Amino acid sequence: MNLKLAHTKGFASDNWSGVSPEVMEALQMANQLHHPAYGENDPMIQQAEKRFQEIFETDCKVFFVYNGTGANVLAVQHLLKSWQAVVAPHSAHLNEDEGGAPEKFTGGKILTVDCPDGKIRPEQVEPFMSSIGFQHHVQPKLISISQVTEMGTLYSLHEIKALADFAHQQGMYLHLDGARIANAAVALGVSFSEMVTQTGVDVLSFGGTKNGLMFGEAVVFLKPELAEGFEYNRKQGMQLASKLRFITAQFLAYLENDLWKRNAKQANAMASLLADELEQVNGIRLSRAVEANGVFAIMPKELIPKLQQEYFFHIWNDSQNEVRLMCSFDTTAKDVQGFVAAAKRLLK
Ligand SMILES: Cc1ncc(COP(=O)(O)O)c(C=O)c1O
Repeated sequence: MNLKLAHTKGFASDNWSGVSPEVMEALQMANQLHHPAYGENDPMIQQAEKRFQEIFETDCKVFFVYNGTGANVLAVQHLLKSWQAVVAPHSAHLNEDEGGAPEKFTGGKILTVDCPDGKIRPEQVEPFMSSIGFQHHVQPKLISISQVTEMGTLYSLHEIKALADFAHQQGMYLHLDGARIANAAVALGVSFSEMVTQTGVDVLSFGGTKNGLMFGEAVVFLKPELAEGFEYNRKQGMQLASKLRFITAQFLAYLENDLWKRNAKQANAMASLLADELEQVNGIRLSRAVEANGVFAIMPKELIPKLQQEYFFHIWNDSQNEVRLMCSFDTTAKDVQGFVAAAKRLLK
């Protein structure tokens, strides 16, 4: 192959990164096998499910899927009838970045709430409760939150529990979009069990791709009875990979020897370094709290396209000149310093 590749690491997203060497090794190991397809009677699936049960300290049911959109959509669709609704922050990936897939697959509605910091509170869900039992309105049945949120913020354990308690009091469920769950656990200094099982989350989209996997996510039902029939939904939803072992092998490597933790620690530390360095630059200011691996900043309008030529990143809010800078497990201090130096040079 003769490809001309760019080697500068940008800050566009944590899925612009490559694959952890340990995960690549696991893929190579899986490639040696002639192995049952679709995960049927596959000892690797059993091993991976056992590992998830250990980290969540409960008999959860785990289903491996290809991507985060698939995990979210299937989790929501599985728990909703077409006349029921999921309540989520307007900024939720489920609402803004899944191309209408949740609406297409559930046939239902997403009821959204404006949440400036990306976090929804029980009192913002409460007004929807007046629809319960009224046949002309969709029936709220699920609350969906993201941890880390799309705004780079974190729910405390107390806040997650309050949402779970509220949902359960109302006969609803709580879904957690954990595309960046490892970054959240590391930032809060808690275990997956403390953040998810012990707070009362019902179903979780467990991310891997943004923290060192090539592809692969897992839908985890913390209450096994809720998982009934999910395998059929996964197949109908086209998320059952025939060579499923390439996903499970990655997760086995990811959950072994705390690889997930090392990767997330690096990404979070680099975001913190980037935030510290940017704060020193005249003309740039941080626009949101830096709580995990995302940094949001406001920059002079004319700087943005010039800097993007050197280090690609996305504009978050055009009217405010706000950009989003994501750090990955493979971001280094040198990448951060190079970016900040480029910003300073271009600002002169
Ligand atoms: C909060 C959140 N959820 C889910 C996803 C998963 O998306 P994908 O379908 O691209 O794997 C992403 C990726 O950007 C995300 O940021």
